[in-house]
Amino acid sequence: MTSMRLYMKMSLVANTGKAYVDEPLHCNNTAGVKVNEFHLVQVKGTWKRKTGNMFKKGRVSAAKICESTTEQGTSWTVVSPVVFTYKVTETLDLLDPGNDTLLLGHIRDPQQLEALRTSGSNKPLKRFVVMDQTVYNLYSCQLTDYFEARNVLYRILPLPTTEENKSMELVMKILEEVHKFSLDRRTEPIIAIGGGACLDMVGLAASLYRRRTPYIRVPTTLLSYVDASVGAKTGVNFANCKNKLGGYVPPVAAFLDRSFLQSVSRRHISNGLAEMLKMALMKHRDLFELLETHGQFLLDTKFQRISGTQDHQDAASISTRMAIEAMLEELAPNLWEDDLDRLVDFGHLISPELEMKVLPSLLHGEAVNIDMSYMVYVACERHLMTDEEKLRIINCMAGLELPLWHKDVTMTLVQHSLSERLKHSGGLVRMPLPIGLGHAEIFNDTEDDTLFRAFDKWCDELRPQEPELVQSVDVNDLLMGY
Ligand SMILES: NC(=O)c1ccc[n+]([C@@H]2O[C@H](COP(=O)([O-])OP(=O)(O)OC[C@H]3O[C@@H](n4cnc5c(N)ncnc54)[C@H](O)[C@@H]3O)[C@@H](O)[C@H]2O)c1
Ligand SMILES: [Zn+2]
Repeated sequence: MTSMRLYMKMSLVANTGKAYVDEPLHCNNTAGVKVNEFHLVQVKGTWKRKTGNMFKKGRVSAAKICESTTEQGTSWTVVSPVVFTYKVTETLDLLDPGNDTLLLGHIRDPQQLEALRTSGSNKPLKRFVVMDQTVYNLYSCQLTDYFEARNVLYRILPLPTTEENKSMELVMKILEEVHKFSLDRRTEPIIAIGGGACLDMVGLAASLYRRRTPYIRVPTTLLSYVDASVGAKTGVNFANCKNKLGGYVPPVAAFLDRSFLQSVSRRHISNGLAEMLKMALMKHRDLFELLETHGQFLLDTKFQRISGTQDHQDAASISTRMAIEAMLEELAPNLWEDDLDRLVDFGHLISPELEMKVLPSLLHGEAVNIDMSYMVYVACERHLMTDEEKLRIINCMAGLELPLWHKDVTMTLVQHSLSERLKHSGGLVRMPLPIGLGHAEIFNDTEDDTLFRAFDKWCDELRPQEPELVQSVDVNDLLMGY
């Protein structure tokens, strides 16, 4: 009897335009096993397996098949590189009818783009849009005017896409409406306009509809602008766990327009600044210094263009650009998070447990900042930075109006979080820690003793006078001692 097994190995290439990173096929002949490695060559529409490396005719696929035969039977290992290409575009006035980014910005083929531009008035484009309810209340008139002015056939679905509703039920609702609208899967991407919760849910719905329908992300909070919109992850909460269901399916494009941020609350701007500070501490000293100097200004102006503020140059556009570039550098080579050593995990080791424990009192970025604040003390205890550098970081966090300490972060929570991480990170804790300002490394050897000493110091220096009265800490009070 012949047993047949088919393995799919996927290598991923994120939008680099360079040769893909191929996983080597292990096709060595060993005793009792006969192995053949095949390329796949297409001649006159038919794919054939071929051995060797030189082919006179035909199109050679990047995929390979390795066949191994033993007395028990044959197995085939398929190595098929998957290439994802997506654009992240910062633009101004996305909903201005003169700006065609929202409709055409995802198209990379210049000929296709030209054809669509010239035939635009004859054949209306069709778009399905999911909008966060609050964003809908604020911006749907502008969007409707935009679509009307550009003769688009559209359906806008407003939904309460908040964290509490981040579930499969809402994904199913999106899918039902998408199905009713009946869009062309190849040419009519679904558009998501909202915060990270909206973008994650629509991404998951799009990845499920007809196995993968292209979608576009338009972030409207600072956190989703610098974080959720630039990566590949989709998801919903499940079984009381954050983002337990989801996938790695990037959008075809993300269109980033800072003008949406003008209506975001000051607390949510602060929330997004935490993720920017994370990238600054891990790998970008200039970004750190920019946040240190202009943080309050960015909070006050909500990243809008304000004339007559030469002192702050163009802090909003420079800082978001730096944060996005730093994030893309870390995400693009590791879109599926196969490499577990991730600097972007800084601030995310103990914060998930804290966030779930005190839900909904802390926003994601706030919990991340409390985690980062403690880890800065760990780094200092390990002599990775000086006391002065630590003080600068804590002062910067305070300037961004982020909480520095929380009563629910105990050593029990720290140790439990780290042991959970050990379980899910291949047996290593993989703790990103800052080294000075704007550099970092991953550490696996932080002693318990160090964690305890750092914790005591962290509490001594940052705990407010009456912790039982404080849920998220008033940072200005905390810094009185400095
Ligand atoms: N996919 C990823 O890589 C990734 C990365 C980071 C975070 N996330 C996810 O993102 C979510 C957090 O994102 P978030 O902070 O944007 O939260 P959110 O989507 O819940 O939005 C926060 C609040 O802001 C409101 N809002 C959105 N835009 C607004 C605007 N322009 N004006 C006024 N109000 C507005 C929303 O209605 C909501 O009440 C989490 O679910 C997290 O898991 C995903
Ligand atoms: Zn985060």
